[in-house]
Amino acid sequence: MTELGRVVGDDGQGRATCGPLGGQGVQAMDAAAVDRFDRWIRQEFVERNTELEEAYFSARREIVHDPHLDTIKRMIRTDGAKLIAPIVEDGGMPPGAQERYRLLGAVGFYLASCRRHEVDGPDGAEELSAAWSLANLLGSSLGVVPRFVFAHQSFYNPAVHDAYRTFTSLDDESVFITYNALAALAYRRAAHALRSVPPMGVSNPMATYLLEDARAALDDVMEFQRTLGRTLDVDRFFFNVRPYFKPYRVGGTEYRGANAGDFSAINELDVLLGLCDPRDPFYQGILAEKRPYLPPEDQARLRGVVTAESLLEAFLREAAAGPVTPRLRENAEHFLALCRAHGTASSFHHHKLVKPFLEEPARDAPEERRKGITASGPPLEVVMAWLARLSDLRAARDLPGSARLALERLRNLIADGARTDG
Ligand code: HEM
Repeated sequence: MTELGRVVGDDGQGRATCGPLGGQGVQAMDAAAVDRFDRWIRQEFVERNTELEEAYFSARREIVHDPHLDTIKRMIRTDGAKLIAPIVEDGGMPPGAQERYRLLGAVGFYLASCRRHEVDGPDGAEELSAAWSLANLLGSSLGVVPRFVFAHQSFYNPAVHDAYRTFTSLDDESVFITYNALAALAYRRAAHALRSVPPMGVSNPMATYLLEDARAALDDVMEFQRTLGRTLDVDRFFFNVRPYFKPYRVGGTEYRGANAGDFSAINELDVLLGLCDPRDPFYQGILAEKRPYLPPEDQARLRGVVTAESLLEAFLREAAAGPVTPRLRENAEHFLALCRAHGTASSFHHHKLVKPFLEEPARDAPEERRKGITASGPPLEVVMAWLARLSDLRAARDLPGSARLALERLRNLIADGARTDG
């Protein structure tokens, strides 16, 4: 096999560098091979996955084994392997980090589908080896896990003729992806606004605008979640969409599945607001586990917030030192409303999305299927417990370790300040 680790710029041969995966960055690798793979992912791959999903759905089963369907599953594995082989044999790599990240996502679509249809066992190892090798190389060059994550599905998934890459052509898949991605974008907008508050100080008149902007973004998160809950069909999600987001292996290592939480924004909000404490061992575990699943720029953002003073601490410090000026009070009221909005969005995720779309249908799943139901891999009860703990912290419920008492203190200081003024 040719040398894989070579990251090259211009090969001087004028090889074409076009197409949604190649972009401007793929100078010296075989851009035509990459584009052939991308075209397949967008066409035949989607048709085969959709045909299989329709058969599974008719049987109301997560997977069906029969000779005709098994042939289609193996065709996905073989056709993808044939298209990935020339990319690997070429030996070049996209020089740009974004192009490498997008290529990792495309290879991930293929590997996630092989897992979903359960053709990535020992008998598939030889065919999958080139994809594993390419994924491992791309992952280690970027400092991320070598698998498909939600960022590949949403933000690094270039649209061609209005359509981004999906596994199937089912409406429910596009509903799920679109509203998850919109909610993730709205979280990102809220985090972007809040990041600018600490350096300007919490009583700054400009901070009012940022706190209002963050609040409007969290209202959007709620709206996208509500639309998703109303529009997505529970059975379609459970049988035909969710299985593509499961864990899969890359070579000898199994990586946990993809979920819409693999962005830094929600954790930036947790920590900047002061609702979650980066010194809390439970929360540290969440951050540490998540880090390699984040896109590279989000990893840097997450590092940036863990040592910063939270807005809750900053408001308490200024309000306790006094006087509680009109601007400080106004901003504190916006801040308290923002904390409530963050808690409400998180409770909605837990009670109106995770429970009805995952926990309830899982009860009817055959016993042997229940153990592989979560994206992260642990049993569903374990995942539900840590999601509930996160939701309790964000809603500042009356539980040990929550910010409830500190928020009450701030509310009292603001109210006392108002009385003094009056
Ligand atoms: C049908 C819709 C959805 C379902 C069934 C669902 C389910 C889940 C599950 C089960 C997890 C835990 C991952 C695991 O399996 O280990 C999770 C994590 C997460 N999901 Fe969702 N989700 C849905 C939609 C959304 C949406 C619209 C968002 C908004 C961006 C979102 C944001 C998150 C976040 C941030 C996490 C990480 C845990 C946290 O920080 O709260 N999810 N989701």
